[in-house]
Amino acid sequence: MQVERSALLQDRKNEVMISVQNVSKHFGQIKALDQISFEVKCGEILGFLGPNGAGKTTAMRILTGFFPPTSGKVWIDGREFFKDPRQAKRTIGYLPETLNLYPDMRVREFLKFVAELRQVAGKKRRSHLDEILSRCGLWNVKHRLIGFLSKGYRQRVGLAQALIGDPSVVILDEPTSGLDPKQIIEIRSLIRELGRERTLILSTHILPEVSMVCDRVLIINQGKVVASGTVDELEAGLKEQHQIYVAIGDIGKKEDALNLLHSLEGAEQICITDEKAQEVGFSLIVPKGLDLRPIISRLFVEHQIPLLEIRSARLSLEEIFMKIVVDETRSGAAL
Ligand SMILES: Nc1ncnc2c1ncn2[C@@H]1O[C@H](COP(=O)(O)OP(=O)(O)O)[C@@H](O)[C@H]1O
Ligand SMILES: [Mg+2]
Repeated sequence: MQVERSALLQDRKNEVMISVQNVSKHFGQIKALDQISFEVKCGEILGFLGPNGAGKTTAMRILTGFFPPTSGKVWIDGREFFKDPRQAKRTIGYLPETLNLYPDMRVREFLKFVAELRQVAGKKRRSHLDEILSRCGLWNVKHRLIGFLSKGYRQRVGLAQALIGDPSVVILDEPTSGLDPKQIIEIRSLIRELGRERTLILSTHILPEVSMVCDRVLIINQGKVVASGTVDELEAGLKEQHQIYVAIGDIGKKEDALNLLHSLEGAEQICITDEKAQEVGFSLIVPKGLDLRPIISRLFVEHQIPLLEIRSARLSLEEIFMKIVVDETRSGAAL
């Protein structure tokens, strides 16, 4: 099945699997989603990245048919979702934010129950379940009671149930939240593996996760898509800015150094990044083409501040994320 599906995906590689157009969702006064649009191609792993309350779960609930949008349209595999939600739902596997598993059921028994609900044909059911159990690393615990499994294993059961019926789209809401670091690594590699054979959307508020797992990222904030692209594209998009890191060797001169940095035209987001013993590190963001390093070194010499290091660095995804989210929140607050 795996081989067949990979071949199928190769054929459809550039086809649009999910299309979301101008979707809004309001809860009374709250605009949980405000005119979002995006597309996901066959075989892509898309990450929804955003702080808590951004609208990620709401977007996923619409994509899984949990509720319809207030306005806007969704197409899954060429079909308009809310015209035929039953058919569309068959294409989608979903791991919700909080999944209620039955603690008194055994792993295989539970997955069999889900397979029956999803009407997986009796003949195929056995081999389908066996394949999912081994793919998700559950083979050795298939007869255990779900209630006695660790959180990491319960999450695997959650992933396994999302795969029953072999959906071509899988949606995972914060799949690593609440897991310990070892479990996180295991679940991420399982997700990457699953993403080879299907279209996958996952949400996270953890930055490194998107660069480790996703092909493309949609940054969501306050119900809006504020940026999208591959990690490289997002970083390149903000190439018009870069960061300068400055370190001094006298903690007594910290305030003087800060004042000097603040006096520089074009310098933004000046902050102290690290302090140890006598050393203090600062970072500032400057527009591309403006190299403040010569001025900084001259000013520091004039003010007898011992300069240990000065370098220019590209912004990391984390800084981009902070910048986009903080800027958007500020402009929103100003309105
Ligand atoms: N059923 C609901 N009723 C009222 N408000 C809701 C409901 N679901 C979500 N919201 C609100 O919508 C916004 C987005 O929430 P959510 O989609 O859960 O964000 P995220 O998953 O990114 O943390 C939040 O302000 C949240 O309080
Ligand atoms: Mg959520």
